[in-house]
Amino acid sequence: MKGLHVAVVGATGLVGQEFIKVLEQRNFPMSSIRLLASDRSAGRKLFVNHEEVEVKETTSQSFDHVDIALFSAGTEISNHFSPIAARAGVVVIDNSAAFRMDSEVPLVVPEVNAEDIKEHKGIIANPNCSTIQMVVALYPLHRVNPIKRVIVDTYQAVSGTGAAAMEELSEQARLVLEGRSVVPHVYPHQIAFNLLPEIDLFLDNGYTKEEWKMVEETRKIMHAEEMAISATCVRVPVFIGHSEAIHIEFSEPMSPETARRILAEAPGVKVLDEPNISLYPQAWSVAGSDDVFVGRIRRDASHSCGLAMWVVADNLRKGAALNAIQIAETMIGRGWI
Ligand SMILES: NC(=O)c1ccc[n+]([C@@H]2O[C@H](COP(=O)([O-])OP(=O)(O)OC[C@H]3O[C@@H](n4cnc5c(N)ncnc54)[C@H](OP(=O)(O)O)[C@@H]3O)[C@@H](O)[C@H]2O)c1
Repeated sequence: MKGLHVAVVGATGLVGQEFIKVLEQRNFPMSSIRLLASDRSAGRKLFVNHEEVEVKETTSQSFDHVDIALFSAGTEISNHFSPIAARAGVVVIDNSAAFRMDSEVPLVVPEVNAEDIKEHKGIIANPNCSTIQMVVALYPLHRVNPIKRVIVDTYQAVSGTGAAAMEELSEQARLVLEGRSVVPHVYPHQIAFNLLPEIDLFLDNGYTKEEWKMVEETRKIMHAEEMAISATCVRVPVFIGHSEAIHIEFSEPMSPETARRILAEAPGVKVLDEPNISLYPQAWSVAGSDDVFVGRIRRDASHSCGLAMWVVADNLRKGAALNAIQIAETMIGRGWI
């Protein structure tokens, strides 16, 4: 192996496992990989490119001789270890919410604002999963016809909460089908055969933190401070794949045909939009794919400058691991690392 010395923090988690998979699949130029997690996982062995690698506990010394660290172990761990790694000269690409709205930290989706990477001071933030897929679909349209307002409703998979939530959905589904009672642990209520309009904490303004992340992060990534955005985020009993119903108000009218043509040529987007044969993006079929899928593109009957569409992506790949690795690849490709 030739290339960079890479560390994955949270390597045993859902996103960490996806990091390893994406690094392998994309033949990322690595000369070494360090797998880090909590002391609970220290000593566990994982395979990377068919070689066994031992998981180590994350400590302040974990980042010596590392070039890039991919963090996905939660906000607390990022808050503690990312600055330590950055001070040691490591480029940190952080998946948590710890630094996303920090004005010193670029928040990047390479298809939208790759140039912002250059401003980094050691830490680059990976946006929230539901934000990433939305901006990949919005930005190519916004460039042509500036967007004034966005209303988005999300249908988010349980994998967005981590490995324990995947297990909770499986277990609850089994119990419900057996006619037995369910005691929720990860979520405040039963998630099997149910929908929960609560993702992350409630804020004083009535929105949840997840909904507010979509507002603030979208504006920061798209450099669109004036854009009016409102989100309702809903957890659904789906394992992988976030879906979004998005209503857009443009500055000028835009036909569905024009939007389809622009999106068909946009990087990272695939249009699946043939309603007459029931062809539209679905969570189960996009799981494992890299693209952001768009369908159901139609005029919004409630506004003359409005369009509505349905956007689906794999939250663990484009929503987390893949986007972070694309940031690293952009840096390599442009000679920024
Ligand atoms: N899932 C998604 O779609 C998604 C999308 C974007 C961002 N994220 C973010 O990515 C992070 C992880 O998500 P996930 O879904 O992978 O969660 P997860 O499956 O629960 O995994 C959590 C990971 O964090 C590690 N960890 C926990 N405590 C630690 C400690 N004290 N020191 C070092 N490592 C520790 C765990 O290691 P052990 O196995 O040793 O406990 C595990 O590797 C979260 O910040 C989440 O918000 C997730």
